[in-house]
Amino acid sequence: MAWSAVSSAFAGGAEIHAKLLEDADSRQGESGTIRLWVSEINAEDVVEALALKIGSRRKGGLSNTIKRSACILNEGWELCKTKSEIEKIKARISNLTRQLQTYGVKGLREGEEASSSSQARRELRRSYPHIIEDNIVGLKNEIEELVSVLLINDESSNHQLASICGMGGLGKTTLAKKVYNHDRVRACFDHMAWVDVSQQCQRRKVWGDILAGLVSSNKEVSKLSDQELTANSFNLLKEKRCLVILDDIWSVEAWDSLKAAFPMAGDMRSKILLTSRNKEVASHADRKGYLLELKCLNEEDSWNLFQKKAFPYRDSSDYKVDANMEELGKDMVKRCAGLPLAIIVLGGILATKNNSLLEWQKVFANVKLYLKSGKAQGPEDVLALSYDDFPPYLRLCFLYLSHFPEDYEILADRLIQLWVAEGIVSSKQEEGDEGQIAEDVAEGYLMELAERCMIQVRERDIKIRSFQMHDLMRDVCLSKAKQEKFFYIADQSNACQLSTIGRVRRVSVH
Ligand SMILES: Nc1ncnc2c1ncn2[C@@H]1O[C@H](COP(=O)(O)OP(=O)(O)O)[C@@H](O)[C@H]1O
Ligand SMILES: [Mg+2]
Repeated sequence: MAWSAVSSAFAGGAEIHAKLLEDADSRQGESGTIRLWVSEINAEDVVEALALKIGSRRKGGLSNTIKRSACILNEGWELCKTKSEIEKIKARISNLTRQLQTYGVKGLREGEEASSSSQARRELRRSYPHIIEDNIVGLKNEIEELVSVLLINDESSNHQLASICGMGGLGKTTLAKKVYNHDRVRACFDHMAWVDVSQQCQRRKVWGDILAGLVSSNKEVSKLSDQELTANSFNLLKEKRCLVILDDIWSVEAWDSLKAAFPMAGDMRSKILLTSRNKEVASHADRKGYLLELKCLNEEDSWNLFQKKAFPYRDSSDYKVDANMEELGKDMVKRCAGLPLAIIVLGGILATKNNSLLEWQKVFANVKLYLKSGKAQGPEDVLALSYDDFPPYLRLCFLYLSHFPEDYEILADRLIQLWVAEGIVSSKQEEGDEGQIAEDVAEGYLMELAERCMIQVRERDIKIRSFQMHDLMRDVCLSKAKQEKFFYIADQSNACQLSTIGRVRRVSVH
């Protein structure tokens, strides 16, 4: 009835917001004003406010039926009011569209539409060989070295603690995973635990994860007190041969808060492998520990890694890299300074360009711009470039990931449901095509995020089952989401300011 007329006339607030964003983003460097206009248009709020009001009155039951009859006039009035709000917004949108056109935005959007044709959608459903592990380059010596340190058990050359240190995105977690899954390591230890520590080190959670990992069960662990948790881990580590990997400890204080679970002195048969950006953490945890300072990739490995991402089909026999692309690619890779995360994200951008030299030249121009502009900190600025290179339909999908806490394992099915429920992804109906239901469209988008290396796949079979986001990528996601007023995170540091934050669409409570 009238509600459906309103909703179809308006196509859903999130969708409108996405459409506006696609234009604003394409010109963000040139006009912060456009972004401001877009964030000020509250289409999503108006439509959802009405849905909420009407939806809450449409519950069943006799009392609700009576209430509904009494409210029927009121409902008509709400509809009228909303319609007039929508008319106003439509007028603002046409106004905005005119202004965007004067900025020359329209042309870019037309180009984007071509890339989201049904052909491209079907392309998305192809398999992505290069996101299936194993794409590791180099690291051979490092793996061997660490494995032998962990396997040594004689007193004279024993290291109880080994550390991998280096900046974010350098490959510490990747190396630690290789070691953790190494056959000889698996065969040597009775119990093993992998624990993500992260910037917000939550002591109890880390202790719980260590014990749950070592005994291979979550059961009962949540019921134990802190003291029982540490005592159980401590005894297990002392008596059995265990390996604990603590991934990404940020500070000396974080180590100090955790160390009660580890019997470091004397004859412990167990080993601890930690990764950190901060060398001080390693030396503080164990002066006699083994330290591996991870190096940036050399030129050859960098180029190899880039090719694996940018040319996913290069292994097929008839594949040859175009000489011009090679020249551009090598120049861009150099600017990534051997940082693997930057290299794979750059490769991910180029993988989506259908081997078009013209598209590569455009990316090259942007890389030069991003890596030398005033805001540039280093090669990790490629991550922001990757967001700006997104086709419109991926923007809100990516921003949505900002809801999840750091190092959170995001289940693909759950995320897809959320995207669809919030109207961020909808079904596709195309001429001469049977179309796709929203969940299939969403699955394709998730694949594309993985192809672009914006997410790190953790579990997959034919589909992606779960994934994580690198914390540097999450920082980009948070800053873009904040810029778009997409959401607000309430945690311990700011929960009490919730009433003062003004208008936000989504609040994520950690
Ligand atoms: N040697 C490598 N070969 C291939 N990919 C790598 C290599 N090192 C890192 N990567 C990739 O770079 C990204 C960041 O690596 P990660 O291990 O998470 O970095 P860190 O833990 O140091 O922040 C990951 O997606 C990983 O797959
Ligand atoms: Mg890491």
